[in-house]
Amino acid sequence: MTDPRLVAIYPPLGLRVTCGPLELRGIGEPEVLALLDVVREGVHAPEFMPFTFPWTDAPAADLPLNYLQWWWRGMATWQPDEWALDLCVLWEGEVVGVQGVATRDFLTLRYGETGSWLGRRFQGRGIGTAMRQAMCTLLFDHLDFEFITSAAFSDNPASLRVSEKLGYQNNGAAWQTRRGDSSTTQRLLLLKEDFVRGPAIEVEGVAAMREFIGLEH
Ligand SMILES: CC(C)(COP(=O)(O)OP(=O)(O)OC[C@H]1O[C@@H](n2cnc3c(N)ncnc32)[C@H](O)[C@@H]1OP(=O)(O)O)[C@@H](O)C(=O)NCCC(=O)NCCS
Repeated sequence: MTDPRLVAIYPPLGLRVTCGPLELRGIGEPEVLALLDVVREGVHAPEFMPFTFPWTDAPAADLPLNYLQWWWRGMATWQPDEWALDLCVLWEGEVVGVQGVATRDFLTLRYGETGSWLGRRFQGRGIGTAMRQAMCTLLFDHLDFEFITSAAFSDNPASLRVSEKLGYQNNGAAWQTRRGDSSTTQRLLLLKEDFVRGPAIEVEGVAAMREFIGLEH
């Protein structure tokens, strides 16, 4: 439980979404350390890089500090016109991965791009679908997002299938360098009216979060 004085200053730390066995919560110290353990156990097959920024390719000795620096950077660089909300994912009380959304000029554009990962041993059990559904419900119903984007390498069927199941439409192709080679990315767009909802969610900490991102001014 993060110190309430910190939550008052940085409300994402007090955000919590629950939906049956699933919980998404702000990443505090205990969460980031548990996530680091999940990362160390592996997020993908070594020969397959799912991320545009290949953070999992860091040497094992560098990974812990890199990971903490990613966490600190999220807090250190938060600003109204460019912020990301990354939530720790728990399944039946166990830390399993991260579900995030990144925004730019949110108060004008009202959208963000989702991104996520799960520890390898937690994949393929429906958790990825449940966590993205819960996140999209939070964004549409509580944080006034009007649409949501995503992207995945075209050879990442699990990520693309989750997007398809939730109602994201194809939104064009893009090209990225991946481990020194050219790779195709599938861009995706989720409109509110197309969203395939999951079970109802319960939320905590939303009022402070709305204030923090400028929705109540
Ligand atoms: C992407 C990710 C978050 C999805 O989570 P998940 O829990 O594995 O996903 P789910 O089990 O909810 O759903 C996966 C869907 O993809 C399908 N799928 C998975 N691998 C597949 C394959 N090789 N070919 C075809 N379909 C596949 C599953 O059958 C399932 O669809 P279904 O429910 O219709 O059967 C997770 O796999 C992950 O963390 N991968 C590594 C990191 C990553 O790729 N992040 C996204 C970067 S864009």
